[in-house]
Amino acid sequence: MKITLPKWYDLHVHLRQGPAMAAYVKAHLAMGCAGLLAMPNTKPPVAKVFERDPLSCWSVESYRDMILKAGGDAFSALIVPLYLTRDTTPAMIEAGAKSGLLKACKYYPPHGTTNSDHGYPLQSSLENDVFRAMEDNGVILCLHGEEHGLSGERYFGKNSSAEDFFYRERMPVLREKFQNLKLVCEHITTKTAVDFVQKSGEKTGATITPQHLMHTVADLLQGLKYHLYCLPLVKFEEDRQALLDAVRAPGNKRIFAGTDSAPHAAKLTECGCAAGCFTGGIAPQLYIQNFDLNKGQNEFEAFLCRNGAAFYDLPVPDETFTLVQENEDLSLCHTAEAEADVVPLPLGLGEKALPWKIVL
Ligand code: DOR
Ligand code: ZN
Repeated sequence: MKITLPKWYDLHVHLRQGPAMAAYVKAHLAMGCAGLLAMPNTKPPVAKVFERDPLSCWSVESYRDMILKAGGDAFSALIVPLYLTRDTTPAMIEAGAKSGLLKACKYYPPHGTTNSDHGYPLQSSLENDVFRAMEDNGVILCLHGEEHGLSGERYFGKNSSAEDFFYRERMPVLREKFQNLKLVCEHITTKTAVDFVQKSGEKTGATITPQHLMHTVADLLQGLKYHLYCLPLVKFEEDRQALLDAVRAPGNKRIFAGTDSAPHAAKLTECGCAAGCFTGGIAPQLYIQNFDLNKGQNEFEAFLCRNGAAFYDLPVPDETFTLVQENEDLSLCHTAEAEADVVPLPLGLGEKALPWKIVL
């Protein structure tokens, strides 16, 4: 089988910084990506819009330049969201949006995931005017939807988790208070989050990663497959089924691809395991395995190529790429692995090949 699709946008990816960035950009171009949204949880974080702003962090302006210079000028769209911190002001949002540089902001739960120490609690942002300024200026809010500071069963249990809590307790309040603010519920992993997104209106979108469609916590734990360790954690089969049902639903318009490809050159350290799965170069080949192509390719095309573009107001590219159902040898084709010393997720799980390959 062979499927030709418009090039697509990865609406959640980590490109980091430094020399390895060029390899990560190359891997994304090699999988038919026309553009991407590059996360701001770098070190230092991307927490101001313009380089001239006085804060001593990176700016959306300078991080975009860094990506463009690392080969990202081949992308037709490049969004860098502003990392929301205690220093974010409504004036920054307004000026950034008016200049055209600021399209989105990112909420990180403080200390909840990789490089999220600068995150500002959602509760506090609900009470200042930053979300209001975003709503008034058409800036999208991307959320890492996990409650911070939970432990034990409340952090991860059979009937509760940090994500579950966030979508039951926090999101309804946010949705209700800012009804015109566009929200992206990123890398959702639970049935609770799927239910929230489906009950919300057209201003709520969501991304899902390949690993959360394909794996459960059992796969992580059996043999302690740490390459599958990412946040939010992979969950239970019931949750995975809810994610699959949502992306396979013929009417799905608001759930789209965002790989959360997150390279970690040093995955295991003395004090634990870095969170993040690397799927640069192979994401469409992973995503496609979750769709029933005999029933048609429309749902897959909507999820990968159309829904995210529509939500972020990006044009669906005229350029195409082709997925061919032939084995792709993982050990041969992945530049990022060779150049930047990161392991693509399936290799980390002991798989040597993928059932699909990409032809550009
Ligand atoms: O697994 C993850 N990795 N989750 C995140 O939220 C951050 C990301 C990273 O930056 O590596
Ligand atoms: Zn991420």
